[in-house]
Amino acid sequence: MSILEVKNLSVNYAGSNGKNTLALSNVDLIMQPGDFVVALGASGCGKTTLLSCIAGFMQPSEGSISIDGKLVHGPGAERGVVFQKHALMPWLSVVENVEFSLRMRGMGKAERRAIAMDKLKLVELEKYADSPIYQISGGMQQRAGVARALASDPAVMLMDEPLGALDALTRAHIQDLIVDLWWQTQKMFFFITHSVEEALFLATELIVMTPSPGRIAHRFKLDFSKQFVECRDSRAVKSSAAFIEMRETVLSLIHDAPGTHHG
Ligand SMILES: Nc1ncnc2c1ncn2[C@@H]1O[C@H](COP(=O)(O)OP(=O)(O)O)[C@@H](O)[C@H]1O
Ligand SMILES: [Mg+2]
Repeated sequence: MSILEVKNLSVNYAGSNGKNTLALSNVDLIMQPGDFVVALGASGCGKTTLLSCIAGFMQPSEGSISIDGKLVHGPGAERGVVFQKHALMPWLSVVENVEFSLRMRGMGKAERRAIAMDKLKLVELEKYADSPIYQISGGMQQRAGVARALASDPAVMLMDEPLGALDALTRAHIQDLIVDLWWQTQKMFFFITHSVEEALFLATELIVMTPSPGRIAHRFKLDFSKQFVECRDSRAVKSSAAFIEMRETVLSLIHDAPGTHHG
């Protein structure tokens, strides 16, 4: 896959009381290999709705999503999804979860096990391959979710606040890991977060969204992740003058946005 295009996307939710919610209005976005798009914005600005449309979980009211010119009508193996709360199967081990979709597609055990172990290495979880899901920490569960999404070698990774429930140290460690993953694979990432710092650190393109109707209000091209790849010191990157200046710029945009309800 070489290009994902979101064109003029609008989503209107029809409420039971006759009140409609325009969750997204006229959203345009283009992604190519190596692009790491982060969507940032207050609750209710349409981030999850946008991700769900790209994932093919729902159809937009207007506009289109296409991959290499072909319209998206549903989920597909070229798009891997990671949710905030892991959706792993607790009765299966870590590696069995990662290889689950391959098993469903009829791939033989040796082949799918080799692929799953390879993905577990990418998220530094190979030592826990045989552990039951309930025995590993929240951070490890999210990493297992990332490995599972990687199993079918998708061109696009779609991640909806995957680190939102983790403590600060674990979160920072997995951010580093995700940057390495992005750099090594040059996949496209669409990543949602509430955290300005996380957004700035991960994104090659930051989109700041505002609600009612949900739309993209600002876009920034960033290279802090590239700086991390070069210097390997995420704290140095996050405390640099350029990072702090951009953080203040984005924070003021979010706080001054009209119609924003924080939470
Ligand atoms: N299934 C739904 N039915 C009706 N309204 C919805 C539904 N899902 C989301 N919404 C509304 O659409 C808007 C955007 O929601 P969402 O995409 O979840 O935003 P975010 O992920 O940025 O918090 C919100 O006003 C929300 O209440
Ligand atoms: Mg959401």
